[in-house]
Amino acid sequence: MLSITTLLLILTISLLCVYTLHKVRLVHLLLHETRDQSRSENAGLFRQLEALHGLYVELGLDKSLPGTRGWAASPDFLMELVRHARTARPACIVECSSGTSTLVLARCAQMNGCGKVYSLEHDADYAIQTRAQLQRHGLSDWAVVLDAPLQPHVFGDSSWPWYALDQLSACPPIDLLVIDGPPQATRALARYPAGPALFLRLAAGARVFLDDASRDDEQAILLRWQTEFPWLQQTFLPCEKGCAVLRKPA
Ligand SMILES: C[S@@+](CC[C@H](N)C(=O)[O-])C[C@H]1O[C@@H](n2cnc3c(N)ncnc32)[C@H](O)[C@@H]1O
Repeated sequence: MLSITTLLLILTISLLCVYTLHKVRLVHLLLHETRDQSRSENAGLFRQLEALHGLYVELGLDKSLPGTRGWAASPDFLMELVRHARTARPACIVECSSGTSTLVLARCAQMNGCGKVYSLEHDADYAIQTRAQLQRHGLSDWAVVLDAPLQPHVFGDSSWPWYALDQLSACPPIDLLVIDGPPQATRALARYPAGPALFLRLAAGARVFLDDASRDDEQAILLRWQTEFPWLQQTFLPCEKGCAVLRKPA
């Protein structure tokens, strides 16, 4: 017969074994998850590097672009803009928010030998930075950064802080509209006003590119636009932040 002490010892050792096995299993699962995550991050990073290299090659740049990703548009989104702008040769390009995308679009216009970028920028400091970058790249004739402070715009029974449009009044019908602002923090559905404010100014055959289209907010905006502007056909490109393309029939 085993003594109580021995039985207790066996029980304790058994419990310790079960606990250790449980912990080892958790570590095993975590390692697999980390490996899968790291593979997918590396694949995503490689795709962005390929796209960034593609940008420099396609645009024949001899000066470096400002940063991409993070606050700026990602290389894969910028490459989609380049592919479209170089093929469709848009005459009037309007952009909600300035930065790296402004340089890329202005360089496309320069290479096409036609077109002009009108970039709405709510932040005066960023407007100055983008103008300086345009000058550095010799692209000032192809893009204008418009000071467009956010001011209340009422659509339906709601108000949005969105770009002042007075400087855009002389702009011809829009062939390409790129929406990458205002920042999400300004309000829920921050970029929705681009629809009611600008879609009626789109030229026949125009395209709209919406960055960050994978976010819940942008998905809700797209649904709303689909209901309110059913004549715009929506498609989705698998860029890292998501890219929605809306097309007005020719
Ligand atoms: C999503 S960013 C626009 C990026 C722009 N389309 C580009 O490709 O660089 C939207 C706005 O955020 C502001 N912004 C840009 N970089 C920022 C930063 N590092 N921190 C805070 N705000 C920034 C600017 O006012 C810009 O218009």
